[in-house]
Amino acid sequence: MENTEAAKNTTTAGPTLSSPLFSFSNPGGSFFGFGFGFGFDSGAPPPPPPPAVEVQLCEESPVAAARMEPVAVDDSLTIYKGRVSTSDVFGVKDSDLVPGKYEGGLKLWEGSLDLVKALNADIKEDKLLLEGTRVLELGCGHGLPGIFAALKGAGLIHFQDFNAEVLRCLTIPNVKVNLFKEPPEGTCTSRSFGFFAGDWSEMDKLFLCGDAEKDKTTSGDTEDKMYNGYDIILMAETVYALSSLPNLYRLIKKCLHYPGGVVYMAGKKHYFGVGGGTTQFLCLVEEDGAMQPERLNDVADGSSNVREVWKLSFK
Ligand SMILES: C[S@@+](CC[C@H](N)C(=O)[O-])C[C@H]1O[C@@H](n2cnc3c(N)ncnc32)[C@H](O)[C@@H]1O
Repeated sequence: MENTEAAKNTTTAGPTLSSPLFSFSNPGGSFFGFGFGFGFDSGAPPPPPPPAVEVQLCEESPVAAARMEPVAVDDSLTIYKGRVSTSDVFGVKDSDLVPGKYEGGLKLWEGSLDLVKALNADIKEDKLLLEGTRVLELGCGHGLPGIFAALKGAGLIHFQDFNAEVLRCLTIPNVKVNLFKEPPEGTCTSRSFGFFAGDWSEMDKLFLCGDAEKDKTTSGDTEDKMYNGYDIILMAETVYALSSLPNLYRLIKKCLHYPGGVVYMAGKKHYFGVGGGTTQFLCLVEEDGAMQPERLNDVADGSSNVREVWKLSFK
């Protein structure tokens, strides 16, 4: 599976991340939702989405990985991640997606590493300052981009995944191992973390609200200016399913700080078979006209379909 291959290539030591199962961007092979580990009767409509809920830091699952594996960001930074299987957590073997039930968060996808590297590059070039910012990672899975943001000084980090189980089994343990270190290595007392599960159509109830529309029509001095959305939204490999793109974009516009918020998005140009991709998502953005995209990176290393990293901001 290309996502794990990417992770292997960036792992400096220790065990590899997981064995290849599928590629959801390989036109000749199996892909996301079709022809491989698809633990769901594709003829039936997906079940209603799970309710939007907050998961507490103390709700770590007993299924959480016992062992942590290193993922190298660069020569001086390694982030640790756990590994759990879909059969242990969801009772489905070798499955990368069960629509409406499990959306792929237990695996580490290569886009999340592309995203971390793009953030790192922007920091090094003084184009990005994470210190004190409010960050939301959408479709976080392992949450490596959000963890990276916290390591670089973000003041508030909210993690969202479709599945509460993913947050309990992976995201929370990963946050704890990377960020809750004993002194003198550091503490996270000055930072605030939140974990939220549910479908993008429902999540705005639990997130900070950016009030982009309100700000455009008033002086901008709203009482809740302090909590006026996230400064940075991160997302990797979240734009694969054509059907969920409108809800995802709507959520971003609702929750991103207006006018200064930015979105960093990593993903494949096209996900064969499921119709989504960065191209389709950016069509939606262009049609809407509120935000402008800037391409940060193209990754065409032959290991997968072309991957991209984009930055979006309000016009
Ligand atoms: C392919 S996984 C990527 C995980 C992680 N970002 C990575 O790159 O390793 C896609 C993620 O998007 C989220 N997701 C997909 N569809 C969703 C939806 N309709 N509502 C909420 N989250 C969704 C899932 O939580 C899942 O973790």
